[in-house]
Amino acid sequence: MQRLKDKYKDYFKIGAEVNSWTIKSHADLITTHFNSITCENEMKPISLAPEEGRFTFERADEIYDFAVKNDLGVRGHTFVWHNQTPDWIFNVKDREELLERLKNYIAVVGGRYRDKVYCWDAVNEAIEDKTDLVLRQSKWLEKLGEHYMDDVFRIAKEVLPEKEFFYNDYNETNPVKRKKIYDTVKGMLDRGVPVDGIGMQMHINIYGPSIDELKSALELYASLNLRIHVTEMDVSMFEFNDHTRLDNPPAELIEKQAQVYADYFKVFREYKDHIDCVTLWGVADDMTWLDNFPVPRRKNWPLLFDVNHNPKEAFYRILEF
Ligand code: GLA
Repeated sequence: MQRLKDKYKDYFKIGAEVNSWTIKSHADLITTHFNSITCENEMKPISLAPEEGRFTFERADEIYDFAVKNDLGVRGHTFVWHNQTPDWIFNVKDREELLERLKNYIAVVGGRYRDKVYCWDAVNEAIEDKTDLVLRQSKWLEKLGEHYMDDVFRIAKEVLPEKEFFYNDYNETNPVKRKKIYDTVKGMLDRGVPVDGIGMQMHINIYGPSIDELKSALELYASLNLRIHVTEMDVSMFEFNDHTRLDNPPAELIEKQAQVYADYFKVFREYKDHIDCVTLWGVADDMTWLDNFPVPRRKNWPLLFDVNHNPKEAFYRILEF
């Protein structure tokens, strides 16, 4: 069987989201097909620094050791986010103290995983997508002010000058949101802020977004002259507001999904001069966050390998070129 990472070696890295369980249960698939991994939760602030003065590295270390042993690159995910961040970090007297805490956090975590982590999502999901506001309300925004991302990227680059730092978000092909992302990042670049790239999460479904929308978004981001990573791709069997349940994926939906993967990867290949990494948000359909989102306990089949770890039609189709 062809290996994904070999087939794509002249294009971009092929990544997978992993966790403490899948590095054991899916180890063969991970090491055969992928050359980059992202921790699902283990490198988020809530996992690494749940309480003031106490770091909990065990789970992240375990995954990091797996990466070292198998020579896999790691996408660091994530430093600043409105979610999965402990409250203690915001109990500060002023802006300066919070920046100091952030700098210390990045130095400790970034330093510990320096060899294999080749980039970090410096900021995740800071753009608002439900109202006309540009920035999402968050404690980071509240405490640091409207240019808080400038601070984060500057600090990160100062502490880890040789690493690349990304702005990562979802609904990133949506015309309204992509303009907000573009304007925000462009503003940062104009102010001389060291942003290296845009992370396009790519949580899509078999009905969309369209290839035209994908291309327009890629054009827009590429025009900033930044690196692009696809960071969390999966292709749900259901439209976002569709709450139906299926016992098994019908053959025609599996086929439709394969076509979506094929079309998207064809475009990714066309943009290989801009895209350095395409990461799938999981390895095989037996373990996916979409089994609980947006509908709790509703089975979904969004990845390239099935529940028994066999390649799906989508897998074969992205190898056809
Ligand atoms: C977002 C985050 C990820 C993960 C997914 C859900 O996309 O960036 O870290 O939490 O949601 O699994």
